[in-house]
Amino acid sequence: MAKKLPERSRQRTGLFSRLYGSFFYLGLLYPLVIALLASPTVQKHATFKHAWRFPYYVKYDMPEKYGLAPGKTLNLNLTTPDNCTLGAWFVLADPCYQTLRATSPSQLSPLTESTVLDSIKTHPTVLFLHGAGGTRAASFRVEDYRAFSARLHANVFAIDYRGFGDSTGSPSESGLALDAYTAWQWLMARGAQPADVVIAGESLGTGVAGQLARRLAHEGVRPRGIALLAPFSSVARLLESYHLFGVPLLQPLQSFPWGLRLLKRIVHVEFDTLAAVPEFNAPTLIAHAQDDLEIPHAHSRTLVDALLAPLLPALTVAVPTAPGKTLSTEEFLALETQREARAARRGEVVRTTHVPNFGVVEAFRGLRAPVVYVETFWGSHAEVGAQEGVQDEMAKLFGLGVYRQEREDESVVDRMLRRVVE
Ligand SMILES: *[C@@H]1O[C@H](CO)[C@@H](O)[C@H](O)[C@H]1NC(C)=O
Ligand SMILES: *[C@@H]1O[C@H](CO)[C@@H](O)[C@H](O)[C@H]1NC(C)=O
Repeated sequence: MAKKLPERSRQRTGLFSRLYGSFFYLGLLYPLVIALLASPTVQKHATFKHAWRFPYYVKYDMPEKYGLAPGKTLNLNLTTPDNCTLGAWFVLADPCYQTLRATSPSQLSPLTESTVLDSIKTHPTVLFLHGAGGTRAASFRVEDYRAFSARLHANVFAIDYRGFGDSTGSPSESGLALDAYTAWQWLMARGAQPADVVIAGESLGTGVAGQLARRLAHEGVRPRGIALLAPFSSVARLLESYHLFGVPLLQPLQSFPWGLRLLKRIVHVEFDTLAAVPEFNAPTLIAHAQDDLEIPHAHSRTLVDALLAPLLPALTVAVPTAPGKTLSTEEFLALETQREARAARRGEVVRTTHVPNFGVVEAFRGLRAPVVYVETFWGSHAEVGAQEGVQDEMAKLFGLGVYRQEREDESVVDRMLRRVVE
């Protein structure tokens, strides 16, 4: 035993010197990586990952290849006000498709635009805003369309933003927001009512959904609902915990005021959903998996807290952030009292349900509309929207699928409030 110790410590020194060497090279590399990330082009690709067009060699005009039923999906193009062409899929709500199948069982011809127009008027539609990378044909996205069509009895309208898939142009924050608005307007121009359309964003698409929902709220337009699946609160906050291959790449920069300033200057996208959510005027569902390694679920918690904040007593004692500053005893006690009052009020306004083997569902009557937060145990990053339990919460909150009947005989908001909050 005693003999082995020196040997071990020798090994350790070796290891340390090797580590030291790596740090030395990393130190040289670091400014290079940051400089690279500061380049608008690199950053655009790092943010949107639009060049990554999986599945490769997509046949957009053959959605059947990706598992959708024959003649259920229309491949089409939209034109944005700034003249981009966007590729899109319109997937029929399953009940509508099954009726079609029953009336012409022998031959399922390709879906026509007139059937799409009918279904837009007779069924709710999920406007689906996908995340970074890949196209509307990616298998984990198709899984969501299938579920929304079959379980929520909704049409799905999925677009590829500018620069993605077969769409023209190049992505930008304002460009993507305009693409989403164009898709919304496309539905409205074809007979949809705002109360027929649920806006659903996933990952990066939650940032786009946030911008769209905010714009509609400013216009006084109220969609049926807004679903944020695996959202981030803002790009700035996302960067605080940004990991590249497991390395918290930007953390060192944030330790210094100049580093933070630099970071602010080099980041060209914001997607400030945190600033947008308080303006949402429609029932809002936020879902996040605890095992999401790309965007920690704390981001959803931040969004929920922002929606909850106006319902709780304010904290008047500010916690000092500058080093060396502390609270006086009186301040500390006041803060504790305020925190307790807040926690107590939170317990009153939020209905929390622990669902075994699934997760936690929190529901409350927000200032402007009901809010449901689903924190699942599973689903990782890309699959949280494919969780049946999440879809059922969407169905309940937005009056879709088996919950749709109830919608006809009472006001939508009253019903949602009753079911969600009571
Ligand atoms: C949509 O536009 C792209 C070019 O931007 C074109 O390749 C494609 O065929 C068009 N699709 C449809 C359905 O018109
Ligand atoms: C829009 O773009 C198309 C090519 O994608 C081009 O032919 C057309 O002239 C453009 N229209 C305007 C108004 O810029």
